[in-house]
Amino acid sequence: MRDETEWADVDAYFEETFVKEPPFIAAAYEASCVAKLPMIAVSPAQGKFLAFLVRLTGAKRVLELGTLGGYSALWMASALPEDGHLVTLDHNPVCSGVARANFAHAGLADRITLRYGEALDSLKALVGEKGPAFDLVFIDANKSDYPVYLDWCVRLSRPGGLIIADNVVRDGRVADGDDHDPGVLGLRAFHQKVGASDTLDATGLQLVGVKGYDGLSFIRIV
Ligand code: DHB
Ligand code: MG
Repeated sequence: MRDETEWADVDAYFEETFVKEPPFIAAAYEASCVAKLPMIAVSPAQGKFLAFLVRLTGAKRVLELGTLGGYSALWMASALPEDGHLVTLDHNPVCSGVARANFAHAGLADRITLRYGEALDSLKALVGEKGPAFDLVFIDANKSDYPVYLDWCVRLSRPGGLIIADNVVRDGRVADGDDHDPGVLGLRAFHQKVGASDTLDATGLQLVGVKGYDGLSFIRIV
């Protein structure tokens, strides 16, 4: 049985061989460590994968729920074209401060808007503002609220848009119907909603690596 040490070793091997996290993104990670933010950002390989998705979909408008220190936002924003923009939402004042400093240090502050506040309030405000629809959404916030986030993110997305949800496996607990953790229940309700919709087309990938055993769901708005 392969274990977490080996998963982390392979991630380290990928990172040094070809992922090559840019220095401004490594600096954001370091600043997040120094500020003692929770070490729950996506891995470098996952961050680069998100950046690939931004490029491959040609996304110009990206929405992120859950900024933390801005690590994944920097990967995605760095893959946007000059006229692209990323909006990221966070309710934690410490995280928001660290993230804003990281965006400025990276020279990407003009390509990123951090909206500080409760995600649901910001999502409602975004709908009210009737801005251009989002091409790609990354949901990486409070897991128990994923089902309600889904509705708002669908409203804010263009047809053909892509919604990516982080942490949808949680060590396999998502498949355990007897697990009553609020986060796990939220993920199960989220997936149930996705599966019940005729206008959402979805798949999921289980992932192992330096972040343990978790996964991503991908939802395409038909
Ligand atoms: C947790 C949250 C995350 O977004 C993540 O990627 C890993 C862990 C958490 O709250 O435990
Ligand atoms: Mg996450």
